[in-house]
Amino acid sequence: MENTDIYTETAYVKSLPGHAYTDEKIFKQERYSLFRYLPVIAGPSCLLKKSGNYIVTDIASESIITIKDQEGVVKAMANTCRHRGKRLLENNIGSNPQKTLKSIVCPYHAWRFDLNGKLIIARGDQANASFRHLCLRKLRVQETAGLTFYHGFNQEYEQVNNLENILGTLKLEDAVVRDRKTYTVNANWKLWVENFLECWHCAPNHPELSEVKGFIKQFESGRDDLYLEDEYDWRAQAHKKGWELPPDNDFSSDENLFHFNICMPLGNGRVTANKDGKRMGDTLGNADGLEGGAIFGCMGPFLFYLAYVDYTVLFCVRPQSVTKTEVELMWVTSENFQASTDDLTWLWHTTIQQDISLVEETQQGVSSLYYTPGPFQAEEYRTQAFTAWWQNWKSKNENQNSPK
Ligand code: FES
Ligand SMILES: [Fe+2]
Repeated sequence: MENTDIYTETAYVKSLPGHAYTDEKIFKQERYSLFRYLPVIAGPSCLLKKSGNYIVTDIASESIITIKDQEGVVKAMANTCRHRGKRLLENNIGSNPQKTLKSIVCPYHAWRFDLNGKLIIARGDQANASFRHLCLRKLRVQETAGLTFYHGFNQEYEQVNNLENILGTLKLEDAVVRDRKTYTVNANWKLWVENFLECWHCAPNHPELSEVKGFIKQFESGRDDLYLEDEYDWRAQAHKKGWELPPDNDFSSDENLFHFNICMPLGNGRVTANKDGKRMGDTLGNADGLEGGAIFGCMGPFLFYLAYVDYTVLFCVRPQSVTKTEVELMWVTSENFQASTDDLTWLWHTTIQQDISLVEETQQGVSSLYYTPGPFQAEEYRTQAFTAWWQNWKSKNENQNSPK
């Protein structure tokens, strides 16, 4: 009998096969030849104001220190001692004021590195100083739009620099990180990203978000016309305030980087995304025209951002193992912010927990022997584009590594 693949018989494009989310070998490939080249958000640059301020970021067994050096230049380096390899620093999340280091001292045998990662004191080797050439392994840093990224790619990502045209008016380098929360998601990182790329699941799963964002009910009831009206009004208001919406970039798929950016009105007379829709503080930077709308996008795909007139949320996605992902949310505001932290975090703290359940239960489903890839619906176009991007990486990676 002819061996036919029923999944190629229809025109539908399907979701990824189960092993993409469960196979340790695939995760290892991702770690070696995907994650290390993708831009990773260390944090907003306002966390690295002074020399010696630092952030530690952990992704899939790689720990990276991003630090401002003595000359005021931000550097990124492996959090691995050049003596016997001990992890050097822990994160200083929540410390206020932000910790400031003069040098990096290994807690194991007390080797000391300067803020550039150069070994300055090799305890036990004072006489001949033969190890002084050793440095912590360096990565590339890209600072743009008040955000600090690092990566191991051999050049700057133009798409990352382009964030200046999208988020630059918010002046995130002068903002304040009002709260940050890390969520552990027992699921593969791709399921998290896939979920965050579509809001078709929002109407049945996110009642709070559906109240706040007009488009969810408008699209659900087929009233796209109302959405277009809201969008027109918002653009006109913004223009009157001398603020132009950044360009949408929702359909271009890059070979080396997955990213998109869109602007959306909130509708329902709301100026910001919270319980009552009223302003909670000063605008970020010069973005008064953002009143009544949001900028939503993704870079990498390890960073998602949502900017409203009085706050921005950074969603930092950090794969840890094949079935475990950490997602850190940072709520960033201007100096002059009057509302409580609970009011600020209510919407996304609530929504993220609903998403965690959805994604963890999907991980259970795709781990089943009975799971077969299913067809994407039109509203899932971004999720579909992401899986195509990933499959493209996967097949290129296999071709490069196949025996000649
Ligand atoms: S491992 Fe760092 S000084 Fe020994
Ligand atoms: Fe969701």
